[in-house]
Amino acid sequence: MTDVQDTRPGHDPGPGTPATGAQCPVFDPHSPDLTPERAYELYEELRSSCPVSRGEQHGGYWALSRYDDVRAAAMDHARFSSTGGVYVPAVSEHRFPPIDYDPPQHGAFRKLIAPLTSAAAAKRMEPAIQATVDALVDGFIGAGRAELVEQMAIPLPLDVITQLYGLGPQHAEDIRGYSLEFLENSSGEAGQAVIRRVRDYWIEVFTERRANPGDDFISQLLQMNAELQVTDHELANMMFILTYAGHDSTALGLSNALLYLAEHPETHARLLEDESGIPVAIDEILRFHAPLHWFPRVATEDVTIADQLVRAGERVMLLFGSANRDAAVFPDPDVVVLDRKPNRHLAFGAGIHSCPGMPLAKAEMRIALTTVLRRIPGFHVDGEVERTSPLEGGGRHLGVRRLPVTW
Ligand code: HEM
Repeated sequence: MTDVQDTRPGHDPGPGTPATGAQCPVFDPHSPDLTPERAYELYEELRSSCPVSRGEQHGGYWALSRYDDVRAAAMDHARFSSTGGVYVPAVSEHRFPPIDYDPPQHGAFRKLIAPLTSAAAAKRMEPAIQATVDALVDGFIGAGRAELVEQMAIPLPLDVITQLYGLGPQHAEDIRGYSLEFLENSSGEAGQAVIRRVRDYWIEVFTERRANPGDDFISQLLQMNAELQVTDHELANMMFILTYAGHDSTALGLSNALLYLAEHPETHARLLEDESGIPVAIDEILRFHAPLHWFPRVATEDVTIADQLVRAGERVMLLFGSANRDAAVFPDPDVVVLDRKPNRHLAFGAGIHSCPGMPLAKAEMRIALTTVLRRIPGFHVDGEVERTSPLEGGGRHLGVRRLPVTW
């Protein structure tokens, strides 16, 4: 790991260097061929022969595919900065806190969102999550069939986040509308226009909440910010990413788990017999199909990874979706082992940017799956399933868009 060699096209890597450049397949998140199946095949090829591979598209980048390299880079925020933004290519000249920030500002933003994302906050939300799940199941159980993305995976996280914000149901519709628009236009001028409109939307909510403060996250945020003096524009950018991450990522994770269970009704009785296995199964499904496949960083100094020199200023993609299938860490990585332990998957990232919403996302997934299993055991796929294929949302998202079931 100490030899510094340059294998970019046009540079002689020298003998004994892992292949990159021309001999390696290229991970291009925007390729229309990047179906989930192709992504996993490609990751396997990259891990075995090109662990640090080069892509020249979208401004150029290195892709890290092995678990140890991905985790090490995620933990090393000093040498791998997040200030280059999460989209490749960038969607906006604005930065979105906390995800596009390094310390010390990053820590200040994480403090601001802690009242929403702490484990204690997720625990307090459990009765409300249960009530929403019960109401959603009540809505379809009599029909004997359901479409579990539109009738569970999307509305649950949306309802939970709007309740935490103290906003009414009409806001849930607005938020979903903006998120879908952004999902379809997450690059170029169209993406920027959505971001501008969402910012104005949150600034209006701040104005209203300053006039009528309540016992909700946004009121607390504005109060806490009185000391920090973050501008309303920055706070609105933070609300944008928090809300988008807060509902769409959970919807992806929940839809993947519901699809697995709908395709494997033979697992239901075992999971119901000992419900403590449900959170373990959720972690395994999150490992197997990471809802968000990668996040980028920018090297702050020259650094050598798996014998490959990465120059200061170059972009590096951390392929969490590949790390989670690395046989060096997970025996039988391409098989779902519902009681897999230990399971040190990276679906929520690692290091200072690891997902603050994990307790909330896991609580929502656990309550939804437990309730669905108890109330409609044996539910199974009945109709055409639609996956996010190729990966969507800037080439990062893996989930389900349509899941018809019956029982
Ligand atoms: C299954 C659901 C979810 C998955 C798989 C997921 C995944 C991730 C991952 C991989 C990261 C790391 C990004 C990086 O390394 O640059 C992240 C960060 C983040 N997530 Fe989540 N997330 C989920 C749910 C949520 C929820 C429910 C919220 C909010 C309530 C949330 C808010 C955030 C925020 C604000 C960050 C940025 C953190 C930082 O930069 O310090 N996520 N998420």
